Amino acid sequence: AQTVGRDADGVVTVGGVDVKSLAEQHGTPAYVLDEADFRARARAWRGAFGADADVFYAGKAFLSRAVVRWLHEEGLNLDVCSGGELATALSAGMPADRIAFHGNNKSMDEIRRAIEAGVGRIVLDSFQEIVRVAHIAQELGKRQRVQIRITVGVEAHTHEFIATAHEDQKFGIPLAGGQAAEAVRRALRLDGLELIGIHSHIGSQIFDMSGFEVAAHRVVGLLKDIRDEHGVELPEIDLGGGLGIAYTSDDDPREPHEIAKALTEIVTRECEAAKLRTPRISVEPGRAIVGPTAFTLYEVGTIKPLDGLRTYVSVDGGMSDNIRTALYDAEYSVALVSRTSDAEPMLARVVGKHCESGDIVVKDAFLPSDLAPGDLIAVPATGAYCRSMASNYNHVLRPPVVAVNDGESRVIVRRETEEDLLRLDVG
Ligand code: LLP
Repeated sequence: AQTVGRDADGVVTVGGVDVKSLAEQHGTPAYVLDEADFRARARAWRGAFGADADVFYAGKAFLSRAVVRWLHEEGLNLDVCSGGELATALSAGMPADRIAFHGNNKSMDEIRRAIEAGVGRIVLDSFQEIVRVAHIAQELGKRQRVQIRITVGVEAHTHEFIATAHEDQKFGIPLAGGQAAEAVRRALRLDGLELIGIHSHIGSQIFDMSGFEVAAHRVVGLLKDIRDEHGVELPEIDLGGGLGIAYTSDDDPREPHEIAKALTEIVTRECEAAKLRTPRISVEPGRAIVGPTAFTLYEVGTIKPLDGLRTYVSVDGGMSDNIRTALYDAEYSVALVSRTSDAEPMLARVVGKHCESGDIVVKDAFLPSDLAPGDLIAVPATGAYCRSMASNYNHVLRPPVVAVNDGESRVIVRRETEEDLLRLDVG
């Protein structure tokens, strides 16, 4: 977890900086990201998988140039899924050959830019894309390294919108009905492509390793079929991301070394059974690296006790800086961080300032009953899919990301301004 403590006055500190001075210096709301914690998690993943595997951080969870530099320094690779993420990665100096390019509907322009930049792999997601990537690579006189993303038919036990390996959804090429085998056939025939492996991502916020087990079994099954049909053993498999983190105390996440051990064992065992050389494994954790490393710091505004129900505590942000509660029914916790309190706990709901009743940040939480406007509260575990999914709904300005480390804070993504909003409005 973050290097969180309380100082002598009961004010919470993170990375050696107290939240009151963070609020004074940078304003609220703000995402406060602990650089040391981020680096430690990145390093733990890298170390757990060792030299025979690659860890691609999934940029969609949260991407900024500082983050790209940290990843580069810690020896991780990067998964991007849009031209914007690619541009961010390249502009921060991530070597292109350490970038994987994903997406179910990459534009021609995005494909061209990725190939021109020399990305290490493009993950092909459809039959059309096999042809498009091959064509553009050939035009550019290149042979692009690619993987094919398949859907293995696993029902991951997670929210419907973030499960991705069952058949009735938009990602990948189904293993069922021989479609994946057909995709491989076509990719192997095209000169512009060098097929290096098979990719599977089964979903997100997963705790149960059995889904990965089934996925690995089926991916290796396909590798075996490819060997039998074409006489080639593809050298790589990617098992995607999706490892869950603790949002509340009910969640019990696995450590990177346990995950690495489990995945490596499954793949090795399956390959031995199929008499295949064990391929190089890669994984794409996003949330598990960045999620726990940040909290959102809010200032309490209006407080509305509703008799017999709960107290509505409004903060200066809301669904524009954290859509996850509204979108996925996600659970978060919250704590008073600008002081300690011995007051009785009250049942509270933390809500934002947006014009809709679904604008909830924390559905059910206990906060001290002496909570007052001006208090600072923090919602932990907002490092992943909060800033990256933030919006300007109601023309609310997106908060900054402030990195703390060794007693110092620095803005790595600045707060949006009204000028930023007006700059886009050219009518
Ligand atoms: N690789 C691929 C191909 C992915 O599609 C994803 C996530 C990841 C890796 C990283 O997954 P992670 O380790 O972060 O779970 N917005 C949702 C999550 C959507 C995930 C989309 N793909 C959320 O807030 O829960």
